Amino acid sequence: MKIFLETYGCQMNVSDSSKINYLFAEQGYQPTTVSQEADLIVINTCSVREKPELKIFSALGRYIPLKSNRPELVIAVGGCVAQQWGDKLIKRCPGLDIVFGTHQLDSLPELVTKIRQSRKSVRKSVAVTDFQERPGGLEVMPLPAPGTINAMVTIMQGCDNFCSYCIVPYVRGREYSRPHAKIIEEVRRLARAGIKEVMLLGQNVNSYGLKETGEIGFAELLAKVHEVEGIERIRFTTSHPKDMSDAVISAFATLPKLSPYLHLPLQAGSDAVLQKMGRGYSVADYLAKVDKLRSAVPDIALTTDIIVGFPGESASDFQKTLAMLDRVRYDQIYSFKYSIRPGTRAAEFVDIVPDGEKRDRLARCQARQDEISQEILDAQVGRVSEVLVTGSSKRGAGEWSGRTPENRIVNFLAPAGTQAGDFFQVKIVTALKHSLKGEVIS
Ligand code: SAH
Ligand code: SF4
Ligand code: F3S
Repeated sequence: MKIFLETYGCQMNVSDSSKINYLFAEQGYQPTTVSQEADLIVINTCSVREKPELKIFSALGRYIPLKSNRPELVIAVGGCVAQQWGDKLIKRCPGLDIVFGTHQLDSLPELVTKIRQSRKSVRKSVAVTDFQERPGGLEVMPLPAPGTINAMVTIMQGCDNFCSYCIVPYVRGREYSRPHAKIIEEVRRLARAGIKEVMLLGQNVNSYGLKETGEIGFAELLAKVHEVEGIERIRFTTSHPKDMSDAVISAFATLPKLSPYLHLPLQAGSDAVLQKMGRGYSVADYLAKVDKLRSAVPDIALTTDIIVGFPGESASDFQKTLAMLDRVRYDQIYSFKYSIRPGTRAAEFVDIVPDGEKRDRLARCQARQDEISQEILDAQVGRVSEVLVTGSSKRGAGEWSGRTPENRIVNFLAPAGTQAGDFFQVKIVTALKHSLKGEVIS
């Protein structure tokens, strides 16, 4: 049996997909990248903006016709679009067998068995769905493929923030923190399997543990993960600025394994827009956190998310977003045109920004950031960095690829016998467009 898995969306979905692959590997399935030879096709979907949401319908348009040559083929759709559309997705896409929500990935093997059995008995497949909210999928702990050195560990699910533009709380449910003992157990298991770097995952990791009585907070969780032998680097995402505590900020200074890298979504540089977004911080609050972080760790690399063209965003509001790029000097930004998500509060806002204007603002935002990103890379030339080898570089010929503690990509020639997971002191000699080139010192 072969499983073909297509993943859209954020790291949550990437992590869920690796869990799905793991569950089916336990049942004897092999992964394949060729949809035509699959016995099971799973699409893990994202609805955060309209564009990724639409992709699922074109994907289904490609895969459902494969059933005419392979009547045994089972097609399942999971993730955030599945959670949002529910049964309606089955009606809209005849031939689709399974729709499973964001809390049901652990029941997928059972749903597949149900479909196969229903086909045998009634010669007609009956579509099945499951949308209960429960923490089941959280406790699936995939083991990494041999040679892998980094892994994601989900520490919480859902979100209670309800930012006015965002669909995530509706499709991922209420915030729930996984018990820390389970998290540590998973990190230890990964370390034993050769993992050197863990990425702790949640929609808002800074509020880890706050809702669960007796649970430890995020800074304490970081300290516990830090104690796990074999883990050399720790990263986490995503941080909500309003919940970024002083304890977490000082963890960057006191925990050497915590990488000096932070994704801190800003969304907009104008207080009026931030307020309409319901973000719960002002530009001054955000900058105060940035300044504290930089005084704790002067070289910390920051990245962010930006939305342009939110309803009511004026030309001068947008200028303030550009000004923030210059003030904070992010390594990289992920910027998006505002996309209306039906059912969210912002979908009711009437002062929409025309699409042409949104496109123009996005282009200006990205152009300015490209310059800043390049300046930051250029400034690395001459520095010596500890690089964790992630694999051989695309160019081959003895060239290896790795990451600095700030998560910048470095390519360099390494001695024979090098493997992923090794550390080198590397001197940066050239800055390219999105990466650095270095020479091994030791
Ligand atoms: N939990 C994370 C974000 C998850 S969604 C956080 O709070 O930062 C990832 C990013 O998608 C968001 O940071 C935001 O920049 C963007 N996004 C979310 N909804 C959007 C929408 N309706 N239109 C455009 N971008 C959106
Ligand atoms: Fe969406 Fe806001 Fe929750 Fe992030 S914090 S997932 S942007 S509602
Ligand atoms: Fe998309 Fe769902 Fe993630 S909507 S961004 S896959 S939480």
